[in-house]
Amino acid sequence: MGERKHAVVVGALGVIGRYIVERLLKEEDWSVVGLSRRGAQDGPRYRHVGVDLLDAGDAAAKLKGLGEATHIFYAAFQASTGAAAGYASNIAPNRDMLINAVTGISGASRRLRRVVLVTGTKYYGSHLGPFKTPARESDPRHMPPDYYFDQIDWLTAFQRGKSWDWTELRPQTLCGFAPGTPMSLAPAIAVYAAVSKELGLPLRFPGKPGAYTSLYQVTESAHFANAALWAATEPGCGLEAFNITNGDYFRWKHVWPKLAAVFDMPVGEPQSISLTQHMADKGELWRAMTHKYGLKPFAFDQLVAWPFADYVFGCDWDVMSDVTKSRRFGFHDVVDSEEMFARLLGRFRAERIVP
Ligand SMILES: NC(=O)c1ccc[n+]([C@@H]2O[C@H](COP(=O)([O-])OP(=O)(O)OC[C@H]3O[C@@H](n4cnc5c(N)ncnc54)[C@H](OP(=O)(O)O)[C@@H]3O)[C@@H](O)[C@H]2O)c1
Repeated sequence: MGERKHAVVVGALGVIGRYIVERLLKEEDWSVVGLSRRGAQDGPRYRHVGVDLLDAGDAAAKLKGLGEATHIFYAAFQASTGAAAGYASNIAPNRDMLINAVTGISGASRRLRRVVLVTGTKYYGSHLGPFKTPARESDPRHMPPDYYFDQIDWLTAFQRGKSWDWTELRPQTLCGFAPGTPMSLAPAIAVYAAVSKELGLPLRFPGKPGAYTSLYQVTESAHFANAALWAATEPGCGLEAFNITNGDYFRWKHVWPKLAAVFDMPVGEPQSISLTQHMADKGELWRAMTHKYGLKPFAFDQLVAWPFADYVFGCDWDVMSDVTKSRRFGFHDVVDSEEMFARLLGRFRAERIVP
């Protein structure tokens, strides 16, 4: 066992943060403080602090006790709300949360060694339309706004001259088994398949025709957490950015029959629909299915954020990151994405989240 390490995971209840917490706690020499507005149970070597990072006073008061922190894993996200919600209005909350978290923790702890900042493939404009693929870390940014750029620029300037450094990780579409965290692809596929089957339909790809045949990539959450641990502790990762994906690419048209097999369903011809619109009236059906099949009682909107699935299945352009750099720097884990989908979806069935 090495020297004791104390992580602060910012956004500890998120789709990414919860896996980082889980991963770090498997290491005997780590203890973890998790931050989010919601409260959560403490556990062995884990303490949860409920704090609103957009409230500078609340953040300063609660973070000043984190004098032991050696590492920060920053995986918080807050979407702007209201009519102006969009790329530009996401900047202020997400830049300010980072500023309040890092200034508070680095001010409290002289032991801080590294900050791991989670950004994503949207750095390259993967959400805007076709972009240069495979994307490499050295590629130029897309046309702003993009809150990642504001976070990176602030952290770059703030870290200068400090005794700690930082590392940026760029994942793509996280996939994990975390029922109740709706911004995730696996439950969207599981619930969509289950509803289709209940209605006697084949499993049809609901996205754009071009998305069925384009190249895509994802990042398994547990794999990403391994990468975050590596990036936090590998000396050479300081002041570097890394794409982190499963390391393979796929086309939905090849994966879809395998997803259908998990649900014992025939594959249908793709049919483009808005899941947001077509699932809007299925809450009642889901309640009935929950009762009929004895499923764990998750409300429909707790399980899936349909706009997220529409976004993923609407990418009718190649989405590919080059992961050569992380391999060169020493992170060699890979995940077979087809095997991952079958395994995760099988778990949604086995654990009675879907029939
Ligand atoms: N999910 C993906 O597929 C994906 C893919 C690529 C990149 N990323 C990037 O990864 C980062 C994290 O995203 P995510 O998907 O993990 O987000 P998420 O699941 O929405 O989690 C966000 C976390 O931040 C916390 N949070 C939000 N506002 C807060 C506040 N004011 N004070 C304290 N904590 C706050 C939330 O907890 P409370 O609500 O309890 O506060 C939650 O724990 C984002 O920059 C995102 O762009 C995500």
